[in-house]
Amino acid sequence: MRNEDGMRLRDKGAIVTGAARGIGQATAERLAEDGAAVLCVDRDEEVLDVARAIVDAGGRAVGHVADLGDPRVHAEITQRAINELGAVDVYHANAAVQRMGALETASDDDWAAMLAVNVRGTAQGIAAALPAMRIRGGGAVIVTASVLGLVGDRNLPVYGSTKGAVRALARALAARHGAENIRVNTICPGDVETRLVTEFFDSQPDPAAARAEIVQHYPLGRFATPRDVANVVAFLASDDAAYLTGIDIVVDGGLMAQAYPVVDA
Ligand SMILES: NC(=O)c1ccc[n+]([C@@H]2O[C@H](COP(=O)([O-])OP(=O)(O)OC[C@H]3O[C@@H](n4cnc5c(N)ncnc54)[C@H](O)[C@@H]3O)[C@@H](O)[C@H]2O)c1
Repeated sequence: MRNEDGMRLRDKGAIVTGAARGIGQATAERLAEDGAAVLCVDRDEEVLDVARAIVDAGGRAVGHVADLGDPRVHAEITQRAINELGAVDVYHANAAVQRMGALETASDDDWAAMLAVNVRGTAQGIAAALPAMRIRGGGAVIVTASVLGLVGDRNLPVYGSTKGAVRALARALAARHGAENIRVNTICPGDVETRLVTEFFDSQPDPAAARAEIVQHYPLGRFATPRDVANVVAFLASDDAAYLTGIDIVVDGGLMAQAYPVVDA
């Protein structure tokens, strides 16, 4: 479903968190290309450059610096979106913190950091945006979960548990707010070419070998680009996904479809 000019999100207001780089930046750019006005939120001031670049390219965007682990910021974020974009129709809860290590080595600070942003920040950001969506007669919430909310990674037990938690959160919200035409879905990416992933491979003794070892698990033969993921978020944000709520879209290049990456028989 597109408007006459082909823009699916014309006249829509969208909030994207974690928009200073990676998936959030790509989503902010993609939603703006589809016609949305976007509030780009991040704790990192580079988010102001991301918003400026969208405006320079002819889109509508405003940058907003905030720490989403702080419960006091969420009302202000929604209010700024209403004031400067005119409405909130889309909320992409995407910011997250990832710290690696075995469960026994996870500190109280690791737990606090990951729970505060990945779970509570996601939930409180959505809660603040819901009344604004209700005024508009509906809306679309998209939460960036992860394949690690579906399957285990031996090095990421705490992070994985936060990603499982937001999948459950999305279902509860889908159940409650469907009658208000507010749809709530998650995306579950595998490895995406972002700083998070690049830094991990760069820290390995042989980065190219470590990368090749992991890439062979992907039937499509590569990691996702941030744009691959943003395209799915834009779909879920649009009326093309009008009958989708309470689901996960796994954006993983086939990673979870394959049991063993072995040679053909
Ligand atoms: N990169 C991957 O391979 C991958 C895979 C699956 C899921 N994800 C998820 O995708 C989302 C985006 O990750 P990315 O890969 O683009 O990573 P990234 O590190 O490039 O981006 C994350 C952004 O969130 C921001 N952020 C973190 N804590 C914040 C806070 N307290 N307040 C405000 N902003 C904060 C960071 O500043 C950063 O700009 C995350 O939810 C991540 O868990 C990433």
